[in-house]
Amino acid sequence: MSKAVKYIQSKFQGIKPKVGIILGSGLGSFVDVLENPLSFSYDELDGFPDAGVSGHEGKLHLGKINHTEIAVLQGRAHYYESGQADAMKVPIRTLAGLGCESLILTNAAGSLMEAAQPGSVMAITDHINFTGVNPLFGEKSNNRFVDMADAYNSDMRSKFHKIADNENIKLHEGVYIWFCGPSFETPAEIRVAKMMGADAVGMSTVPEVILARQAGMKVAALSVITNMAAGMSDEVLSHEQTMANAEKGIQDLQALLIRFLELYS
Ligand code: HPA
Repeated sequence: MSKAVKYIQSKFQGIKPKVGIILGSGLGSFVDVLENPLSFSYDELDGFPDAGVSGHEGKLHLGKINHTEIAVLQGRAHYYESGQADAMKVPIRTLAGLGCESLILTNAAGSLMEAAQPGSVMAITDHINFTGVNPLFGEKSNNRFVDMADAYNSDMRSKFHKIADNENIKLHEGVYIWFCGPSFETPAEIRVAKMMGADAVGMSTVPEVILARQAGMKVAALSVITNMAAGMSDEVLSHEQTMANAEKGIQDLQALLIRFLELYS
């Protein structure tokens, strides 16, 4: 058992979250709906990264929504911050070590689909790793050869679609492509991404999905579309714009998450 898991369990005996959640840029307000949360700063937890990008807090919260115990990572480390593709290895393994059987990842992404405009939400069906790096580089055992077919669990996704229909939320779906950032993509790169079959682009999530699948967790991932990808609109891309547009999709995403957790069994 890892030091972080032991430490958390020593502070909060009997805790057994079933679902882990990772909150992306600007999505931190979700933690306000947690019942009786217990929070740890990443600084307290052995092996956890600094989560220094604005909009990212760097806290692990344990709490409940209805009867479902959950563990929420508010803030992630990105590959572009350190050049380490495995920056989220300890947090993901900590969620699995605490007992999470499922992981829901959220992020902000640029859209390559005209139909999915800024402020909308997309369920990820599959991904393209366009970075050439992998969080499992250097691992020694055979469990580094992780099967990535059906990485994004179709049962979880269809539950999200049912909830979206009931709540009158338009939930797009598509393939997410991971670019390493931190500069945004060029219009030429986005044209290539489109030819390869990508529907949304971002700088996170994929390494976490690989780590989560290795750890045996079921995975769902939802993107808040904050902008049209480079070359698809006249807007200048910036982190500030990402944050401002995230606000619009947050409400829908939050409603989907809460309902999913209320119905979780
Ligand atoms: N590209 C990469 N990452 C992003 C984008 C984008 O257009 N929007 C939000 N995160």
